[in-house]
Amino acid sequence: MKNTLIAPSVLAADFANLQRDIEMINNSEADWFHIDIMDGVFVPNISYGMPVLAAITKHAKKTIDVHLMIIDPDRYISTFKKLGTDVLTVHYEACTHLHRTLQAIKAEGMQAGVALNPHTSVSVLEDVINDIDLVCIMSVNPGFGGQSFIENTYKKVKQLKEMIVKNNASTRIEVDGGVTNINATQLAAAGADVLVAGSYVFGADDPIATIADLKKITQ
Ligand code: DX5
Ligand code: ZN
Repeated sequence: MKNTLIAPSVLAADFANLQRDIEMINNSEADWFHIDIMDGVFVPNISYGMPVLAAITKHAKKTIDVHLMIIDPDRYISTFKKLGTDVLTVHYEACTHLHRTLQAIKAEGMQAGVALNPHTSVSVLEDVINDIDLVCIMSVNPGFGGQSFIENTYKKVKQLKEMIVKNNASTRIEVDGGVTNINATQLAAAGADVLVAGSYVFGADDPIATIADLKKITQ
């Protein structure tokens, strides 16, 4: 049976009530915490950094999935490990020596992820697919929560799934941006293994029920 994972994005949480929102995710059917780190250079926005991540990991009881939207991520790999990261994802567009970066993440004992901007073809990963634990397909331009889902994403998920099968790889496919009950079922059917949802979960009247529903419609 398919077990699509749901990863609420903490970017959409109420930062003045962060512990409350973390406990909500702990008590829900969510599988992972998705943590967006933005540097104001790679993307036109700054989110939060190390002290906030430390506060999150102190209370979070599920897998910590960190999405780095920063230039030169190699500088911080060991720091993110120390802060409790389980899956560390870097952007393809920010890494000149992607293979080296992936090896460095794994050497720290973390799963290595690569995120692709909407304009980046999945084909650029053909030669490293067996070295990647997770590919994060951006279904919005990175930098902000609450944007509309880009429809071309379905095609990319299918192409990536074919590449993974062809290469006998065990890479997971994550989709990040604009995920709602409208597109979740079709994304899971196309081959997505992890769905990130920020504003759809935290903007709901009942986030716990919304997570349960996402889980139910994607199995
Ligand atoms: C965007 C981030 C996403 C964002 C998703 O740059 O990578 O993880 O928080 O938020 P929603 O689900 O609101 O599009
Ligand atoms: Zn993200």
